[in-house]
Amino acid sequence: MREWTKEERYKPLNSIEEILPLEEKIKNSLYRQGFHVQPRSGLLNDPNGFIYDDDTKTWHLFYQWFPWGATHGLKYWYHLTSKDLVKYEDAGIGIKPDCDMDNKGAYSGSAIKHNGEIYIYYTGNHRDENWVRTAYTCCAKLEKDGSVNKIKDPIFAPEKNYSEHQRDPKAFYDEKSGKFYIIIGARSMDDRGCVLVYESSELTSGWALKGELKVEGYEHFGKMWECPSIEKIGEDYIFIFSPQFIKLPGRGEVTNHNIYLIGDLDIESLTFKPKGDFKHLDLGFEFYAAQCAANTDSIDASTKILSAWMGLPDAVYFTDDEEWSGCLTLPRELSISNGKLIQKPISAIYQSKKEELYSFSGAENITEILEINSPSLFEFEVDNDFIINFFCDKDGQNGITFNYSKNDNILKVSRKELKRKINPEFGEEREVHFKDGIKKLSCFIDNSSIEIFFNDGEEVFTSRIFPDYEGGDKYIKTDGLLKINAFKL
Ligand code: FRU
Repeated sequence: MREWTKEERYKPLNSIEEILPLEEKIKNSLYRQGFHVQPRSGLLNDPNGFIYDDDTKTWHLFYQWFPWGATHGLKYWYHLTSKDLVKYEDAGIGIKPDCDMDNKGAYSGSAIKHNGEIYIYYTGNHRDENWVRTAYTCCAKLEKDGSVNKIKDPIFAPEKNYSEHQRDPKAFYDEKSGKFYIIIGARSMDDRGCVLVYESSELTSGWALKGELKVEGYEHFGKMWECPSIEKIGEDYIFIFSPQFIKLPGRGEVTNHNIYLIGDLDIESLTFKPKGDFKHLDLGFEFYAAQCAANTDSIDASTKILSAWMGLPDAVYFTDDEEWSGCLTLPRELSISNGKLIQKPISAIYQSKKEELYSFSGAENITEILEINSPSLFEFEVDNDFIINFFCDKDGQNGITFNYSKNDNILKVSRKELKRKINPEFGEEREVHFKDGIKKLSCFIDNSSIEIFFNDGEEVFTSRIFPDYEGGDKYIKTDGLLKINAFKL
Protein backbone atom coordinates (compact mmCIF):
# COMPACT_ATOMS: atom_id res chain seq x y z
CA MET A 1 0.00 0.00 0.00
CA ARG A 2 1.25 3.47 -0.91
CA GLU A 3 2.38 5.79 1.89
CA TRP A 4 1.16 9.37 1.57
CA THR A 5 2.99 12.39 2.96
CA LYS A 6 1.04 15.25 4.53
CA GLU A 7 2.02 17.44 1.56
CA GLU A 8 0.57 14.91 -0.86
CA ARG A 9 -2.62 14.56 1.14
CA TYR A 10 -3.21 18.30 1.35
CA LYS A 11 -2.11 19.30 -2.12
CA PRO A 12 -4.80 21.52 -3.66
CA LEU A 13 -6.23 20.82 -7.08
CA ASN A 14 -5.74 24.01 -9.06
CA SER A 15 -7.53 22.98 -12.17
CA ILE A 16 -9.51 19.89 -13.18
CA GLU A 17 -7.01 19.31 -16.03
CA GLU A 18 -4.56 18.15 -13.38
CA ILE A 19 -6.48 14.91 -12.83
CA LEU A 20 -6.91 14.03 -16.50
CA PRO A 21 -3.83 11.74 -16.59
CA LEU A 22 -5.15 9.86 -13.53
CA GLU A 23 -8.57 9.61 -15.09
CA GLU A 24 -7.00 8.20 -18.25
CA LYS A 25 -5.09 5.66 -16.16
CA ILE A 26 -8.10 4.27 -14.28
CA LYS A 27 -10.50 4.34 -17.22
CA ASN A 28 -9.76 0.75 -18.23
CA SER A 29 -9.92 -0.73 -14.75
CA LEU A 30 -12.03 -3.90 -14.78
CA TYR A 31 -13.67 -2.62 -11.61
CA ARG A 32 -15.06 0.67 -12.94
CA GLN A 33 -18.77 0.59 -12.29
CA GLY A 34 -21.56 0.62 -14.85
CA PHE A 35 -24.52 2.12 -12.96
CA HIS A 36 -23.07 3.47 -9.72
CA VAL A 37 -21.72 6.93 -8.92
CA GLN A 38 -17.93 6.61 -8.71
CA PRO A 39 -15.09 9.15 -8.47
CA ARG A 40 -13.45 10.57 -11.59
CA SER A 41 -10.17 9.73 -9.86
CA GLY A 42 -9.03 9.31 -6.28
CA LEU A 43 -11.31 8.53 -3.38
CA LEU A 44 -15.05 8.94 -3.02
CA ASN A 45 -16.67 8.70 0.39
CA ASP A 46 -19.96 10.15 1.66
CA PRO A 47 -22.90 11.36 -0.43
CA ASN A 48 -23.44 15.08 0.27
CA GLY A 49 -25.96 17.85 -0.42
CA PHE A 50 -28.49 15.40 -1.84
CA ILE A 51 -31.63 17.27 -2.90
CA TYR A 52 -34.47 17.36 -5.41
CA ASP A 53 -35.13 20.70 -7.11
CA ASP A 54 -38.81 20.64 -8.01
CA ASP A 55 -38.49 23.79 -10.17
CA THR A 56 -36.03 22.23 -12.58
CA LYS A 57 -37.09 18.61 -11.86
CA THR A 58 -33.44 17.84 -11.23
CA TRP A 59 -31.60 15.94 -8.51
CA HIS A 60 -28.36 17.33 -7.14
CA LEU A 61 -25.97 14.88 -5.57
CA PHE A 62 -22.42 15.63 -4.47
CA TYR A 63 -19.77 13.27 -3.21
CA GLN A 64 -16.87 13.71 -0.82
CA TRP A 65 -13.82 13.64 -3.02
CA PHE A 66 -10.07 13.38 -2.60
CA PRO A 67 -8.77 13.76 -6.17
CA TRP A 68 -5.21 12.44 -6.03
CA GLY A 69 -5.57 8.78 -5.04
CA ALA A 70 -7.19 6.26 -2.73
CA THR A 71 -6.60 7.95 0.59
CA HIS A 72 -8.30 10.54 2.80
CA GLY A 73 -6.91 14.08 2.60
CA LEU A 74 -8.03 17.49 1.38
CA LYS A 75 -11.70 16.89 0.60
CA TYR A 76 -13.80 18.52 -2.16
CA TRP A 77 -17.47 18.16 -3.02
CA TYR A 78 -17.93 16.86 -6.55
CA HIS A 79 -21.28 17.75 -8.14
CA LEU A 80 -23.58 15.56 -10.25
CA THR A 81 -27.09 16.22 -11.47
CA SER A 82 -29.67 13.72 -12.60
CA LYS A 83 -33.23 13.52 -13.88
CA ASP A 84 -33.85 9.96 -12.67
CA LEU A 85 -30.98 8.97 -10.30
CA VAL A 86 -29.87 6.36 -12.80
CA LYS A 87 -28.09 8.51 -15.38
CA TYR A 88 -25.99 11.42 -14.12
CA GLU A 89 -24.56 14.58 -15.65
CA ASP A 90 -21.16 15.80 -14.55
CA ALA A 91 -21.50 19.28 -13.01
CA GLY A 92 -17.86 19.70 -12.00
CA ILE A 93 -16.39 20.52 -8.62
CA GLY A 94 -19.11 21.76 -6.26
CA ILE A 95 -17.15 23.02 -3.26
CA LYS A 96 -13.43 23.68 -3.15
CA PRO A 97 -11.61 23.93 0.18
CA ASP A 98 -10.19 27.27 -0.85
CA CYS A 99 -10.70 29.62 2.10
CA ASP A 100 -9.56 29.87 5.68
CA MET A 101 -12.68 28.33 7.27
CA ASP A 102 -12.31 25.12 5.21
CA ASN A 103 -8.55 25.20 4.57
CA LYS A 104 -8.09 21.46 5.22
CA GLY A 105 -11.26 20.15 3.63
CA ALA A 106 -14.91 20.73 2.75
CA TYR A 107 -16.37 17.89 4.81
CA SER A 108 -19.82 16.33 4.61
CA GLY A 109 -23.16 18.08 4.76
CA SER A 110 -26.62 18.48 3.33
CA ALA A 111 -28.92 20.79 1.37
CA ILE A 112 -32.33 22.37 1.93
CA LYS A 113 -34.75 24.24 -0.33
CA HIS A 114 -36.78 27.20 0.88
CA ASN A 115 -38.63 29.92 -1.07
CA GLY A 116 -37.21 28.60 -4.31
CA GLU A 117 -33.58 28.81 -3.15
CA ILE A 118 -31.27 25.91 -2.35
CA TYR A 119 -28.74 26.24 0.46
CA ILE A 120 -25.95 23.85 1.31
CA TYR A 121 -24.43 23.27 4.75
CA TYR A 122 -21.06 21.63 5.16
CA THR A 123 -18.24 21.29 7.66
CA GLY A 124 -15.26 23.52 7.09
CA ASN A 125 -12.37 21.45 8.39
CA HIS A 126 -10.00 24.18 9.48
CA ARG A 127 -6.57 23.49 10.94
CA ASP A 128 -4.10 26.05 12.23
CA GLU A 129 -0.31 25.95 11.81
CA ASN A 130 -0.08 23.60 14.84
CA TRP A 131 -2.56 21.28 13.15
CA VAL A 132 -5.24 22.07 15.75
CA ARG A 133 -8.66 21.47 14.24
CA THR A 134 -11.69 23.79 14.31
CA ALA A 135 -14.79 22.35 12.63
CA TYR A 136 -16.89 25.25 11.35
CA THR A 137 -20.40 24.90 10.05
CA CYS A 138 -20.47 26.70 6.70
CA CYS A 139 -23.23 27.62 4.30
CA ALA A 140 -23.32 28.12 0.53
CA LYS A 141 -25.98 28.85 -2.05
CA LEU A 142 -26.56 26.49 -4.93
CA GLU A 143 -27.26 28.88 -7.78
CA LYS A 144 -29.68 28.16 -10.62
CA ASP A 145 -26.75 27.65 -13.03
CA GLY A 146 -25.36 24.90 -10.77
CA SER A 147 -22.52 26.96 -9.32
CA VAL A 148 -22.04 27.09 -5.56
CA ASN A 149 -21.41 30.40 -3.78
CA LYS A 150 -20.09 30.25 -0.26
CA ILE A 151 -21.31 32.62 2.44
CA LYS A 152 -18.12 34.31 3.57
CA ASP A 153 -18.12 33.40 7.26
CA PRO A 154 -19.13 30.21 9.07
CA ILE A 155 -22.72 30.23 10.33
CA PHE A 156 -21.48 28.84 13.65
CA ALA A 157 -18.29 27.73 15.32
CA PRO A 158 -17.85 24.44 17.20
CA GLU A 159 -19.08 24.11 20.78
CA LYS A 160 -16.34 24.61 23.34
CA ASN A 161 -17.74 21.95 25.70
CA TYR A 162 -17.42 19.16 23.15
CA SER A 163 -14.37 17.60 21.49
CA GLU A 164 -12.99 18.82 18.15
CA HIS A 165 -15.15 16.17 16.42
CA GLN A 166 -18.27 18.08 15.41
CA ARG A 167 -19.36 17.71 11.81
CA ASP A 168 -21.80 16.72 9.05
CA PRO A 169 -24.64 19.29 9.31
CA LYS A 170 -28.04 18.01 8.22
CA ALA A 171 -30.64 20.76 7.84
CA PHE A 172 -34.39 20.36 8.04
CA TYR A 173 -37.55 22.36 8.64
CA ASP A 174 -39.94 21.53 11.45
CA GLU A 175 -43.55 22.33 10.70
CA LYS A 176 -44.67 22.36 14.33
CA SER A 177 -42.25 25.05 15.46
CA GLY A 178 -41.98 26.74 12.06
CA LYS A 179 -38.20 26.81 12.46
CA PHE A 180 -35.13 25.44 10.73
CA TYR A 181 -32.82 22.99 12.45
CA ILE A 182 -29.34 21.71 11.81
CA ILE A 183 -28.16 18.57 13.54
CA ILE A 184 -24.49 17.74 13.63
CA GLY A 185 -22.67 14.61 14.73
CA ALA A 186 -20.33 15.02 17.69
CA ARG A 187 -18.05 13.40 20.23
CA SER A 188 -18.30 14.68 23.78
CA MET A 189 -15.28 15.46 25.95
CA ASP A 190 -15.84 12.13 27.71
CA ASP A 191 -16.02 10.20 24.42
CA ARG A 192 -19.74 9.75 23.91
CA GLY A 193 -21.20 9.86 20.43
CA CYS A 194 -24.06 12.36 20.27
CA VAL A 195 -25.97 14.88 18.17
CA LEU A 196 -26.09 18.65 18.66
CA VAL A 197 -29.18 20.57 17.56
CA TYR A 198 -29.06 24.16 16.27
CA GLU A 199 -32.09 26.32 15.60
CA SER A 200 -32.83 29.40 13.51
CA SER A 201 -35.76 31.09 11.83
CA GLU A 202 -33.56 31.96 8.85
CA LEU A 203 -31.30 29.83 6.74
CA THR A 204 -28.18 31.95 6.52
CA SER A 205 -28.03 33.57 9.95
CA GLY A 206 -29.40 33.49 13.49
CA TRP A 207 -28.21 29.97 14.27
CA ALA A 208 -27.94 29.11 17.97
CA LEU A 209 -27.31 25.89 19.84
CA LYS A 210 -30.53 24.48 21.25
CA GLY A 211 -28.82 21.56 22.99
CA GLU A 212 -27.88 17.93 22.74
CA LEU A 213 -30.51 15.55 21.42
CA LYS A 214 -31.54 12.95 23.99
CA VAL A 215 -31.85 9.66 22.18
CA GLU A 216 -33.43 7.43 24.80
CA GLY A 217 -31.40 4.28 25.43
CA TYR A 218 -28.44 5.53 23.35
CA GLU A 219 -26.72 7.73 25.96
CA HIS A 220 -23.59 5.56 25.71
CA PHE A 221 -23.36 4.08 22.26
CA GLY A 222 -19.97 4.51 20.58
CA LYS A 223 -17.59 7.43 20.88
CA MET A 224 -18.57 9.48 17.84
CA TRP A 225 -21.69 9.72 15.67
CA GLU A 226 -21.06 10.71 12.08
CA CYS A 227 -23.57 11.80 9.45
CA PRO A 228 -26.77 12.04 11.54
CA SER A 229 -30.06 12.57 9.76
CA ILE A 230 -33.67 12.80 10.91
CA GLU A 231 -36.44 12.29 8.39
CA LYS A 232 -40.19 12.28 8.64
CA ILE A 233 -41.68 9.41 6.66
CA GLY A 234 -45.46 9.53 6.80
CA GLU A 235 -46.23 9.94 10.52
CA ASP A 236 -42.99 8.37 11.75
CA TYR A 237 -39.54 9.76 12.24
CA ILE A 238 -36.41 7.87 11.35
CA PHE A 239 -33.08 8.76 12.92
CA ILE A 240 -30.14 7.55 10.85
CA PHE A 241 -26.56 7.80 12.09
CA SER A 242 -23.11 6.26 11.78
CA PRO A 243 -21.77 5.39 15.25
CA GLN A 244 -18.02 4.79 15.53
CA PHE A 245 -15.72 2.93 17.92
CA ILE A 246 -18.29 0.37 18.98
CA LYS A 247 -18.51 -3.37 18.34
CA LEU A 248 -22.00 -4.64 17.63
CA PRO A 249 -23.23 -8.24 17.80
CA GLY A 250 -22.68 -10.24 14.62
CA ARG A 251 -20.39 -7.64 13.08
CA GLY A 252 -16.98 -9.07 13.97
CA GLU A 253 -14.22 -6.56 14.55
CA VAL A 254 -15.97 -3.72 12.66
CA THR A 255 -16.34 -0.57 14.73
CA ASN A 256 -18.02 1.72 12.14
CA HIS A 257 -21.72 1.13 11.50
CA ASN A 258 -24.73 2.74 9.89
CA ILE A 259 -27.91 2.17 11.84
CA TYR A 260 -31.40 3.59 12.25
CA LEU A 261 -34.11 4.01 14.84
CA ILE A 262 -37.78 4.56 14.11
CA GLY A 263 -39.50 6.68 16.74
CA ASP A 264 -40.96 10.00 17.85
CA LEU A 265 -39.12 13.29 17.66
CA ASP A 266 -39.99 16.17 19.94
CA ILE A 267 -37.64 18.90 18.88
CA GLU A 268 -38.91 21.33 21.55
CA SER A 269 -37.80 19.04 24.39
CA LEU A 270 -34.87 17.72 22.32
CA THR A 271 -35.93 14.10 22.61
CA PHE A 272 -35.99 11.20 20.22
CA LYS A 273 -37.93 8.22 21.63
CA PRO A 274 -37.17 5.03 19.70
CA LYS A 275 -40.10 2.65 19.24
CA GLY A 276 -37.88 -0.42 19.08
CA ASP A 277 -34.28 -1.57 18.87
CA PHE A 278 -31.81 -0.15 16.40
CA LYS A 279 -31.37 -1.91 13.08
CA HIS A 280 -28.54 -1.88 10.57
CA LEU A 281 -29.49 -0.12 7.36
CA ASP A 282 -27.68 -2.83 5.47
CA LEU A 283 -26.63 -6.44 6.02
CA GLY A 284 -23.54 -6.14 3.83
CA PHE A 285 -19.88 -5.44 4.46
CA GLU A 286 -19.53 -2.00 2.82
CA PHE A 287 -22.12 0.58 3.75
CA TYR A 288 -21.69 3.89 5.60
CA ALA A 289 -22.62 7.58 5.93
CA ALA A 290 -26.11 7.26 4.42
CA GLN A 291 -27.97 10.46 3.63
CA CYS A 292 -31.58 11.07 2.56
CA ALA A 293 -32.38 13.55 -0.18
CA ALA A 294 -34.09 16.78 0.90
CA ASN A 295 -37.24 18.25 -0.63
CA THR A 296 -38.65 14.88 -1.66
CA ASP A 297 -41.94 15.82 0.04
CA SER A 298 -42.49 17.79 -3.15
CA ILE A 299 -42.81 14.44 -4.92
CA ASP A 300 -44.18 12.13 -2.23
CA ALA A 301 -44.24 12.70 1.53
CA SER A 302 -44.27 8.99 2.33
CA THR A 303 -41.06 8.12 0.44
CA LYS A 304 -37.51 9.29 1.01
CA ILE A 305 -34.55 8.59 -1.21
CA LEU A 306 -31.36 7.37 0.43
CA SER A 307 -27.82 7.18 -0.88
CA ALA A 308 -24.78 5.87 0.99
CA TRP A 309 -21.07 5.30 0.59
CA MET A 310 -20.35 1.71 -0.46
CA GLY A 311 -17.27 1.66 1.72
CA LEU A 312 -16.04 2.01 5.27
CA PRO A 313 -13.58 4.32 7.01
CA ASP A 314 -10.15 2.73 7.58
CA ALA A 315 -10.73 0.07 4.94
CA VAL A 316 -8.54 -0.74 1.95
CA TYR A 317 -9.78 -1.87 -1.43
CA PHE A 318 -8.30 -3.67 -4.38
CA THR A 319 -8.47 -0.57 -6.60
CA ASP A 320 -6.36 1.52 -4.19
CA ASP A 321 -3.29 0.60 -6.26
CA GLU A 322 -5.10 1.91 -9.33
CA GLU A 323 -5.42 5.32 -7.54
CA TRP A 324 -9.18 5.26 -7.08
CA SER A 325 -11.64 3.89 -4.57
CA GLY A 326 -15.26 4.01 -3.49
CA CYS A 327 -18.67 4.39 -5.06
CA LEU A 328 -22.16 5.26 -3.90
CA THR A 329 -24.92 2.70 -3.45
CA LEU A 330 -27.84 2.50 -5.81
CA PRO A 331 -30.29 5.12 -4.45
CA ARG A 332 -33.07 3.52 -2.43
CA GLU A 333 -36.69 4.47 -1.89
CA LEU A 334 -37.45 4.36 1.83
CA SER A 335 -40.91 3.93 3.26
CA ILE A 336 -42.27 2.68 6.54
CA SER A 337 -44.91 -0.03 6.56
CA ASN A 338 -46.37 -1.35 9.84
CA GLY A 339 -43.52 0.22 11.77
CA LYS A 340 -40.91 -1.46 9.55
CA LEU A 341 -38.47 0.22 7.20
CA ILE A 342 -38.77 -0.89 3.58
CA GLN A 343 -35.92 -0.08 1.19
CA LYS A 344 -36.50 -0.56 -2.52
CA PRO A 345 -34.08 0.12 -5.37
CA ILE A 346 -34.78 3.42 -7.12
CA SER A 347 -37.68 2.51 -9.40
CA ALA A 348 -36.17 4.14 -12.53
CA ILE A 349 -33.46 1.45 -12.54
CA TYR A 350 -36.05 -1.00 -13.87
CA GLN A 351 -36.32 1.14 -17.01
CA SER A 352 -32.66 0.29 -17.68
CA LYS A 353 -33.54 -3.37 -18.11
CA LYS A 354 -32.21 -4.43 -21.52
CA GLU A 355 -32.18 -7.88 -23.10
CA GLU A 356 -33.13 -10.90 -21.08
CA LEU A 357 -30.15 -13.02 -20.12
CA TYR A 358 -31.83 -16.02 -18.47
CA SER A 359 -35.28 -17.28 -17.65
CA PHE A 360 -35.97 -20.53 -15.80
CA SER A 361 -39.11 -21.45 -13.91
CA GLY A 362 -41.44 -24.20 -13.00
CA ALA A 363 -38.86 -26.75 -11.97
CA GLU A 364 -38.16 -27.11 -8.25
CA ASN A 365 -34.62 -26.72 -7.13
CA ILE A 366 -32.93 -25.10 -10.13
CA THR A 367 -29.21 -25.80 -10.09
CA GLU A 368 -27.27 -23.79 -12.63
CA ILE A 369 -23.97 -22.16 -13.41
CA LEU A 370 -24.77 -18.82 -15.04
CA GLU A 371 -22.33 -16.36 -16.56
CA ILE A 372 -22.76 -12.96 -14.94
CA ASN A 373 -22.32 -10.46 -17.81
CA SER A 374 -22.56 -7.38 -15.55
CA PRO A 375 -24.05 -4.82 -15.17
CA SER A 376 -27.11 -6.94 -14.69
CA LEU A 377 -30.13 -7.71 -12.57
CA PHE A 378 -30.78 -11.26 -11.37
CA GLU A 379 -34.23 -11.89 -9.87
CA PHE A 380 -34.67 -15.11 -7.93
CA GLU A 381 -37.74 -16.64 -6.37
CA VAL A 382 -37.27 -19.21 -3.64
CA ASP A 383 -39.41 -21.42 -1.49
CA ASN A 384 -36.92 -23.62 0.27
CA ASP A 385 -33.28 -23.95 1.32
CA PHE A 386 -30.90 -22.42 -1.20
CA ILE A 387 -27.23 -21.74 -1.83
CA ILE A 388 -26.14 -19.02 -4.24
CA ASN A 389 -22.48 -18.40 -4.94
CA PHE A 390 -21.84 -15.10 -6.75
CA PHE A 391 -18.67 -14.39 -8.75
CA CYS A 392 -17.46 -17.98 -8.48
CA ASP A 393 -15.51 -19.87 -11.14
CA LYS A 394 -16.99 -22.38 -13.58
CA ASP A 395 -16.75 -25.09 -10.92
CA GLY A 396 -18.69 -23.03 -8.42
CA GLN A 397 -15.62 -22.12 -6.30
CA ASN A 398 -14.18 -18.85 -4.91
CA GLY A 399 -17.33 -16.72 -4.72
CA ILE A 400 -19.36 -14.89 -2.10
CA THR A 401 -21.88 -17.40 -0.78
CA PHE A 402 -25.46 -16.99 0.47
CA ASN A 403 -26.70 -20.09 2.25
CA TYR A 404 -30.29 -20.14 3.51
CA SER A 405 -31.99 -22.71 5.65
CA LYS A 406 -35.78 -22.65 5.72
CA ASN A 407 -35.74 -24.69 8.90
CA ASP A 408 -34.61 -21.77 11.06
CA ASN A 409 -35.00 -18.95 8.48
CA ILE A 410 -31.33 -18.12 8.81
CA LEU A 411 -29.26 -16.74 5.96
CA LYS A 412 -25.51 -17.20 6.23
CA VAL A 413 -23.23 -15.07 4.08
CA SER A 414 -19.56 -15.80 3.64
CA ARG A 415 -16.86 -14.14 1.61
CA LYS A 416 -14.14 -16.36 3.06
CA GLU A 417 -13.53 -18.12 -0.24
CA LEU A 418 -12.93 -14.99 -2.29
CA LYS A 419 -9.52 -14.91 -3.94
CA ARG A 420 -9.28 -11.14 -3.56
CA LYS A 421 -10.02 -10.72 0.10
CA ILE A 422 -11.61 -7.49 1.30
CA ASN A 423 -10.56 -6.32 4.77
CA PRO A 424 -10.79 -9.85 6.25
CA GLU A 425 -9.93 -8.41 9.67
CA PHE A 426 -13.39 -6.80 9.68
CA GLY A 427 -14.99 -10.24 9.51
CA GLU A 428 -15.96 -12.32 6.49
CA GLU A 429 -19.22 -13.85 7.63
CA ARG A 430 -22.67 -12.57 8.47
CA GLU A 431 -25.78 -14.31 9.71
CA VAL A 432 -29.30 -12.91 9.49
CA HIS A 433 -32.66 -14.18 10.67
CA PHE A 434 -35.68 -13.53 8.45
CA LYS A 435 -38.79 -13.70 10.60
CA ASP A 436 -41.08 -14.76 7.77
CA GLY A 437 -38.48 -16.41 5.58
CA ILE A 438 -37.07 -15.43 2.19
CA LYS A 439 -39.25 -15.52 -0.92
CA LYS A 440 -37.52 -13.22 -3.36
CA LEU A 441 -34.08 -11.77 -4.11
CA SER A 442 -33.43 -8.89 -6.52
CA CYS A 443 -29.67 -8.82 -7.15
CA PHE A 444 -28.13 -5.75 -8.77
CA ILE A 445 -24.70 -6.71 -10.00
CA ASP A 446 -22.12 -4.23 -11.21
CA ASN A 447 -18.48 -4.73 -12.15
CA SER A 448 -17.29 -4.48 -8.54
CA SER A 449 -20.38 -4.59 -6.35
CA ILE A 450 -23.44 -6.56 -5.46
CA GLU A 451 -26.67 -5.28 -3.88
CA ILE A 452 -29.40 -7.73 -2.98
CA PHE A 453 -32.89 -6.58 -2.00
CA PHE A 454 -34.68 -9.34 -0.10
CA ASN A 455 -38.48 -9.71 -0.20
CA ASP A 456 -39.01 -6.42 -2.04
CA GLY A 457 -37.00 -4.32 0.38
CA GLU A 458 -37.40 -5.98 3.78
CA GLU A 459 -33.60 -6.21 4.04
CA VAL A 460 -30.72 -5.19 1.79
CA PHE A 461 -27.24 -6.63 1.44
CA THR A 462 -24.54 -4.42 -0.14
CA SER A 463 -20.88 -5.23 -0.72
CA ARG A 464 -17.96 -4.46 -2.97
CA ILE A 465 -16.34 -7.36 -4.78
CA PHE A 466 -13.17 -7.50 -6.88
CA PRO A 467 -13.44 -10.78 -8.79
CA ASP A 468 -10.47 -12.33 -10.51
CA TYR A 469 -12.17 -11.97 -13.90
CA GLU A 470 -9.14 -13.18 -15.87
CA GLY A 471 -9.01 -16.22 -13.59
CA GLY A 472 -12.62 -16.99 -14.54
CA ASP A 473 -14.48 -15.78 -11.43
CA LYS A 474 -17.51 -14.50 -13.34
CA TYR A 475 -20.28 -17.01 -12.68
CA ILE A 476 -23.17 -17.56 -10.32
CA LYS A 477 -23.85 -21.04 -9.03
CA THR A 478 -27.42 -21.51 -7.86
CA ASP A 479 -28.84 -24.39 -5.94
CA GLY A 480 -32.43 -24.66 -4.79
CA LEU A 481 -34.12 -21.78 -6.63
CA LEU A 482 -37.70 -21.82 -7.90
CA LYS A 483 -37.42 -19.18 -10.60
CA ILE A 484 -34.64 -17.18 -12.24
CA ASN A 485 -34.97 -14.12 -14.45
CA ALA A 486 -31.95 -12.09 -15.41
CA PHE A 487 -31.52 -8.96 -17.47
CA LYS A 488 -28.66 -6.90 -18.77
CA LEU A 489 -28.75 -3.39 -17.31
C1 FRU B 1 -17.71 10.06 7.18
C2 FRU B 1 -16.82 11.28 7.35
C3 FRU B 1 -17.59 12.47 7.85
C4 FRU B 1 -16.73 13.61 7.37
C5 FRU B 1 -16.25 13.11 6.04
C6 FRU B 1 -14.87 13.56 5.65
O1 FRU B 1 -17.19 9.12 6.31
O2 FRU B 1 -15.75 10.97 8.22
O3 FRU B 1 -17.82 12.48 9.23
O4 FRU B 1 -17.44 14.80 7.25
O5 FRU B 1 -16.28 11.70 6.11
O6 FRU B 1 -14.56 13.13 4.36
